[in-house]
Amino acid sequence: MKVLLATSKPFALPAVQGIQHIIESAGHKFVKLEKYENESQLLDAVKDVDALIIRSDIVNKEIMEAAPNLKIIVRAGAGYDNVDLEAATNCGICVMNTPGQNANAVAELVFGMMIYAQRNHFDGSVGRELTRRRLGLYAFGNVAKMVAKIARGFDMPVYAFSPTLTHDDLRKEGEYGVITAYTNKELFGNSDFVSLHMPLLEETRYCVDYSLLSLMPQDGLLINTARKELVVEDDLIRIMEERPAFQYVTDVKPDKHEEFLEKFPRRYFATPKKLGAQTTDANKNAGLAAANQIVAYFQNGDERFRVNL
Ligand code: 3PG
Repeated sequence: MKVLLATSKPFALPAVQGIQHIIESAGHKFVKLEKYENESQLLDAVKDVDALIIRSDIVNKEIMEAAPNLKIIVRAGAGYDNVDLEAATNCGICVMNTPGQNANAVAELVFGMMIYAQRNHFDGSVGRELTRRRLGLYAFGNVAKMVAKIARGFDMPVYAFSPTLTHDDLRKEGEYGVITAYTNKELFGNSDFVSLHMPLLEETRYCVDYSLLSLMPQDGLLINTARKELVVEDDLIRIMEERPAFQYVTDVKPDKHEEFLEKFPRRYFATPKKLGAQTTDANKNAGLAAANQIVAYFQNGDERFRVNL
């Protein structure tokens, strides 16, 4: 089988070498397309491949239709909103992700960005500490769990609300020591900082709006390492205009990035490129898991991490 690693944002070399080793040791052919700049390069590269490993790379119907041999796509990472699942199902393609593999890297970035915000972008002015500030986690998957774990070291009370887990489910996650919120309103109302951790789905798109943000303190901090589409940008701009101490830090650049930057240069920060999972460790974890999942799929039909029907 021919396996293509297609990453417009390439993995670290040790991860690529590890993927290649796993694929070739199982008797498959390994090819890669890195740092490509347009869809036509991907369309060309998928023509004769049986399996595809990607990151945030967009894989739509057109790409699947250009790849008649394609049997499996593994998104080396958590969120798979970049893959058209319906088209994959219609083309008979199995889609998987590698849940949890890059969670620690993203969780560490949450703390890096919280400190950066609370220390006023390291501009030398008087900042604030994280300790004893209440941290709200909106959704409670792998990244949020790692955040909760690290937060204990900072002595931060952690609140969690999940749209998909019940209050009892959340309470059972006792090892993370979170205080469970019954509603998203309770979460935002009880938190000094809120960190977003839900996937992008139709139900979560624009779920963070004025009505929720207005429940946070005047000097609240919103952290987004998930997806830009979760936030109603105009509502967040309005809150930041109304509250001169409210801050936003994000790893997913908003559409209105320039406006945020112009209006709130000292209270807004966006990483230049989504880099939450951009560590050698996370690249190896997610990349090698993806390669192993492909090998297992071809070896014995293992579909454990399948996300489409
Ligand atoms: C994920 O969903 O796993 C993260 O957003 C990381 O995405 P990336 O592989 O594009 O960095």
